[in-house]
Amino acid sequence: MSTDDDKRLAAEAAVQEVSDGMVVGLGTGSTAAFAIAALARRTAGGLDIRAVATSEATARAARAAGIPVIDFAACTSVDLAIDGADEIDARLWAIKGAGGAMLREKAVAAAARRFVVIADGTKRVDAIGAAKVPVEVLPFARGFVVAQLEALGAAVTVRPDYLTDNENLVADCRFRDLSDPRRLAVSIAAIPGVLGHGLFLDEVDAAYVASDGRVSKMERAVRIVGP
Ligand code: 5RP
Repeated sequence: MSTDDDKRLAAEAAVQEVSDGMVVGLGTGSTAAFAIAALARRTAGGLDIRAVATSEATARAARAAGIPVIDFAACTSVDLAIDGADEIDARLWAIKGAGGAMLREKAVAAAARRFVVIADGTKRVDAIGAAKVPVEVLPFARGFVVAQLEALGAAVTVRPDYLTDNENLVADCRFRDLSDPRRLAVSIAAIPGVLGHGLFLDEVDAAYVASDGRVSKMERAVRIVGP
């Protein structure tokens, strides 16, 4: 079994949660692409859903696959969102945003009654922190924000020649110490000029993780709200 097989299996397991009438949030990235393909097969078979997309690329892919995509700006809530992750641990804390879509992904995840992460086993970690934390940055405030992120202990690389779908920069942050992600998330979010970041600590309700062809499901008992 390849990593792609595991991504596909995790995606197919999550897509089983979709039912008629739902508004479904579609994530961004290679694992989410397998969910789009699985969902397209189900819509072709008569499943009646509408989707919101977390990136322009995902919107194009979903429409090309025949999935009806509606504007998230016109939605007040989403029934189920399915998305990949760069790291996920047993607390269902995740780092997302290697694909640069973390701001829209977090808005859709927060709007979702249920947010499910799909991943191959390489993304499953004991504690998040090895992956870089992407931060979406207002270009106007670039210098100030980078300095503030460095003051929080990050080695910062601004992605060259890259703008998000929202026309902002991404600062990839390698933190020396990510032992207290909650505190760090609050500190990053408090920097004026930061528009979002890839620490997902409260959003994930469940995760389907596939390793060597076997899918395991982790479920959060209660969604924790607040710092
Ligand atoms: C994009 C994301 C992706 O979900 C994350 O980077 C995982 O991507 P992939 O499934 O390609 O490994 O957060 O912003």
